[in-house]
Amino acid sequence: MKIVLLGPPGAGKGTLAVKAKEYYAIPHISTGDLFRNNIKNETELGKKVKAILAAGGLVPDSVTIDMVKNRIAEDDCKNGFILDGFPRTIAQAEALAELCDLDAVVDFVVDNEDVIARLSGRRMCPSTGRLYHILFNPPKVEGKDDDTGEDLIQRDDDKPEAISHRLEVYAEQTQPLIDYYKEKGLLVDIDASGKPEDVFENMKKSL
Ligand code: AP5
Repeated sequence: MKIVLLGPPGAGKGTLAVKAKEYYAIPHISTGDLFRNNIKNETELGKKVKAILAAGGLVPDSVTIDMVKNRIAEDDCKNGFILDGFPRTIAQAEALAELCDLDAVVDFVVDNEDVIARLSGRRMCPSTGRLYHILFNPPKVEGKDDDTGEDLIQRDDDKPEAISHRLEVYAEQTQPLIDYYKEKGLLVDIDASGKPEDVFENMKKSL
């Protein structure tokens, strides 16, 4: 199964992708995670994209498309994959269409108020990427990862100025993909306002 997860920043794509990856036994490919790993490892790509991510802008299409093309050519993607955060522009969607036929594009529908609450309270384990929320999914010990005990961090792009820029970029560049995939008959709308378990049940049924 080849699935794309679409939706605004903070809609819960990463949270749901972790559940879907186990259930469907296919890899979860998050372009945001790939870029963040490059930044952490101080690769050439990481140096190039660091400031773009911190400000909440989009990495140029050519760079992103090449990165995804290489990733989905890997062995573990033979039976499918879950793309989280890609495509984000019409040019990326067209490039993806040249690479494979998708089974579905899941659009997580959630309002801006929920998105802002989710992003501003998100915390992350720096080594495993495990996600928490200070209110909706708190760690067992405040500020510490449940397994590794490491200090949790807040993403640079979860600061208020970057959040509002990300929402503008989403509306301008990514939202047009909803109509693009609707016309292709691939779009599956999912109400993402409930608990992650309920959102996942709806997603499974709809797929
Ligand atoms: P990326 O990492 O993809 O960020 P994003 O799309 O903005 O999505 P997020 O990770 O912020 O949110 P999410 O929907 O995954 O929500 P999450 O599950 O974490 O991209 C980062 C940057 O990389 C971009 O800004 C750009 O610079 C660059 N980039 C990436 N892809 C690119 C591309 N294709 N082209 C160009 N540039 C690209 O949940 C958020 C919080 O809410 C968590 O704390 C979670 O615990 C909580 N939560 C989740 N679901 C629920 C729920 N149902 N109820 C209550 N709380 C919930």
